[in-house]
Amino acid sequence: MNKASMVPAVPADLMPELRTDHAGETGAVWIYRGVLAFSRDEALRDFARRHLETEQEHLRLVCELVPLRQRSWLLIPWRIAGFLTGALPALFGPRAVYGTIAAVETFVDRHYEVQIRALDGRPEYAALQDLLRRCQEDECHHRDEASALAGAAVPARPGVLLRAWCAVVGWGSESAVKVARVV
Ligand SMILES: [Fe+2]
Ligand SMILES: [Fe+2]
Repeated sequence: MNKASMVPAVPADLMPELRTDHAGETGAVWIYRGVLAFSRDEALRDFARRHLETEQEHLRLVCELVPLRQRSWLLIPWRIAGFLTGALPALFGPRAVYGTIAAVETFVDRHYEVQIRALDGRPEYAALQDLLRRCQEDECHHRDEASALAGAAVPARPGVLLRAWCAVVGWGSESAVKVARVV
């Protein structure tokens, strides 16, 4: 922890991963903006507003960790991709949005887990590991809440289109991470 600012220290080898977190949390904020732009379902809007608040807090935290010159150059494309990831399923209804969020957060949980494990046995970065763990916990809550709501929605079983869309979202998240690591 840097005493003056209380911002956790980041090891150089993890900075590319933190850059992907910054890109991802930017995308996450815009997913919920996309949902809120198109959905009129009050329960879904409430869900999106609550999640948006958490994602904005995550983005604030990673902004402190990743200096401006280290951030992805593609923040505008990440915002657009995030917005579409929320907006498109919102046009199909709450079931599609909850399924999408569950798919995204399943990916994000694993993404944070790799970084948390990379900090095992490095007590000088315990503050960073702790911060990543707290973000991961929030993402798991998001995933579980979205899965439960998707399961409660009608129809209970996702159709072929939604399953294909969720596969695309998982693949897209993975590809975005690969790109944001380097650009
Ligand atoms: Fe997040
Ligand atoms: Fe999240």
